[in-house]
Amino acid sequence: MSHSPSLPDRPTLELDPEMSDSERLAALREHYVDVARIHEELANQLESAKQRQADLRSEVTDLQSENEALKTSSLYLATVEELTDDQVLLKQHGNNQEVLTDVSPRLHERLEAGDRVAINDSFAVQTVLDAETDARAQAMEITERPEVDYGYIGGLEEQIREVREAVEDPLTSPEKFEQVGIEPPTGVLLHGPPGTGKTLLAKAVANQTDATFIKMAGSELVQKFIGEGARLVRDLFSLAAEREPAIIFIDEIDAIASKRTESKTSGDAEVQRTMMQLLSEMDGFEERGDISIIAATNRFDMLDRAILRPGRFDRLIEVPEPDDEGREQILRIHTRGMNLADDVGLERLAEDTEGFSGAELASLATEAGMFAIRDGRTVVTQEDFAEALEKIQADDAAGTPIAFY
Ligand SMILES: Nc1ncnc2c1ncn2[C@@H]1O[C@H](COP(=O)(O)OP(=O)(O)OP(=O)(O)O)[C@@H](O)[C@H]1O
Ligand SMILES: [Mg+2]
Repeated sequence: MSHSPSLPDRPTLELDPEMSDSERLAALREHYVDVARIHEELANQLESAKQRQADLRSEVTDLQSENEALKTSSLYLATVEELTDDQVLLKQHGNNQEVLTDVSPRLHERLEAGDRVAINDSFAVQTVLDAETDARAQAMEITERPEVDYGYIGGLEEQIREVREAVEDPLTSPEKFEQVGIEPPTGVLLHGPPGTGKTLLAKAVANQTDATFIKMAGSELVQKFIGEGARLVRDLFSLAAEREPAIIFIDEIDAIASKRTESKTSGDAEVQRTMMQLLSEMDGFEERGDISIIAATNRFDMLDRAILRPGRFDRLIEVPEPDDEGREQILRIHTRGMNLADDVGLERLAEDTEGFSGAELASLATEAGMFAIRDGRTVVTQEDFAEALEKIQADDAAGTPIAFY
């Protein structure tokens, strides 16, 4: 829309007393013509200003109703496939249904094939989404290696071996599987109580391999727009396919793969759709090449059994709470950098911490260090550990969640 032009100058009439009557008449006539022309010009401008006002008013109305619609209804996500003269062909995410729908000329102007839009139940385009959500898939890729390696994990030798066998070997020596004539596992599921080292283990794998490591938390896959979670899952797998060999790590998978609940709210349906997309990506896996998938959960009991079928998460690795020996190793790891007094007996401490998870042991070490600092010492003693233990047990009994360091 153009800006309004400035108003024309007022014409001047110059009458000289020396002028003859006919000269005056000519000058007046000329002035009259000028004034008439300007009058017409102003009338035109007024007309276009009114037109513009009407346009703007209808745009305001459009925006208001768009705003209302956005506020009140739940929207679906779709991609623009094609634009015709005044319609658009959309493909809905989630169900892949294609629809041809009308759009206002204002929206039509802004749309391009490939754009993502939010639509309502009657397929009317409500808003155009910016590209930011697409960039999110790219952001999942981890370029920097986590600083964790297997030496940082205590008491999980068996689990480490299993993970390496199921995740690393298929990527580094696929011929082993070919020679024997078996398919490598598709997905590995780490499950066990909170704070036992599941995430740690996945990070160590990432550190160990040269494969691209792509991490996503289950909760990040639960999205606001219908179809968006499924889309993210697709993005996740296509990113992995582009960057193979690759490892996809879905932490806290229970967020999208819990047993179907009875309630029929649209939020649940959306989570279901996201899970279905994950299953279908895993089922179509053979053609995908060198991709391994790891998932982790501390709610194994809640998982929908569908995700455990062969060809999906078909390798279950339990990560249990550490035993005596495991606890001692974990304590050793977490006190590695600490200035310990000679009297500190980690073996004894391991016996006294029955039922502690790795995370709780890590926090015990930090707490003990805090006691030494509070006391103005640089050396951490057995007494500090005893006090820390007491504090943690008291916190625990009081139901305070233990801080994770
Ligand atoms: N086996 C272990 N060896 C060494 N440290 C451990 C171990 N397990 C847990 N930890 C410590 O606890 C922290 C949390 O562990 P991690 O995040 O791996 O737990 P998780 O099993 O993924 O728990 P959640 O189920 O709650 O996600 C780690 O960063 C580490 O400091
Ligand atoms: Mg975890």
